[in-house]
Amino acid sequence: MPVITEIEDLRRLHRQRVPRMFYDYVDVGAWTGSTYRANRADFGRILLRQRVARNIENRNLATTMLGQQVSMPLALAPVGLLGMQHPDGEICAARAALAAGVPFTLSTMSMCSIEDVARATGAPFWFQLYTLRDEEFLDSVLDRARRAGVSALVLTLDLTIQGQRHKDLKNRMTAPPRMTLPNLIDIAMHPRWALGMLRTRRRSFGNIVGHARGVTNLGDLMDWTSRQFDQRLDWARVEQIIRKWGGPVILKGINDPEDARRALDTGCAAILVSNHGGRQLDGAPSTIRALPLIRRAVGPDFPLYLDSGIQSGQEALKAIASGANGVFIGRAFTYGLGAMGQKGVETALTILRREMDITMALCGVNDIRNFGPECLWPGDRGNAA
Ligand code: GLV
Repeated sequence: MPVITEIEDLRRLHRQRVPRMFYDYVDVGAWTGSTYRANRADFGRILLRQRVARNIENRNLATTMLGQQVSMPLALAPVGLLGMQHPDGEICAARAALAAGVPFTLSTMSMCSIEDVARATGAPFWFQLYTLRDEEFLDSVLDRARRAGVSALVLTLDLTIQGQRHKDLKNRMTAPPRMTLPNLIDIAMHPRWALGMLRTRRRSFGNIVGHARGVTNLGDLMDWTSRQFDQRLDWARVEQIIRKWGGPVILKGINDPEDARRALDTGCAAILVSNHGGRQLDGAPSTIRALPLIRRAVGPDFPLYLDSGIQSGQEALKAIASGANGVFIGRAFTYGLGAMGQKGVETALTILRREMDITMALCGVNDIRNFGPECLWPGDRGNAA
């Protein structure tokens, strides 16, 4: 077993331990992958200020996100198909988040259902929703989320049509996988994963199968899903869904200052600046590049979070210093899940926490709530300062 000290170690293990089609599903960008790469590369261009002789002995990373106490300003982003990376993957990730004191967001496209996660954790979590056409399903899923104690809705706005992801298309990826020869070979090469999957009954989309009218098997599901993404989505519909839910809503997938300004009028509780991890519009700016302009557009006090590209505590801090109140991680924890299940997600969170803590200290700051633009090298403060 290799010594694990950084997220990259978990990524390598994930790649070894999980069938290629599911690893590729996580580690893919749309088209040429330029936005996927820029999401990380643009963090590398931002410099932190090294400060000395400032008492950093007692440090604090705890703060709040959406009014909720968190042990660090970081949440688990909604990631589809976690239950294909590890048996009962959503439950494993939710438990790891709970143990670490950070929010977990369950994706609509998950293997474990809302009820499964609620039962397994006994604690509130956040739920991600696409803007779907099936109104009956929408009403019932919101109702189920309310009954399960979901405390915030994360409404995805940037996937009403899917960006073209070559690897997924070439792998003919489905969940559960179709029993084609290439898939059988892929699965046979990962016997531990296969045995784990045989031991769980959660191998299809638990939030949908048996809940959406007429969806009882994989064929129905594929058909239903392809018809569901609502390309008619507009701001009036966003406002309607926010009203239907009645609780706090985070609007996810905004990456433009004009959209951010418009979002303020919807009554949303927060905005998650996101380009879907570079999986949708290739050629769009990285989120860390867009963030300072978006912060300026929404003003200094509106809750703003950022995802896409965060795989280290240093990147999380750069986002926070550039105007985010917190960050969401997707791939970083999914690598941990694919590598080692719940323990892997816990390891990912420990790595990120340690990196944030030590970096904050080396910047001469002992409370995350004081980690602002002044912690970045003067030329790197964008428009947030
Ligand atoms: C879905 O949200 C995806 O990115 O695959």
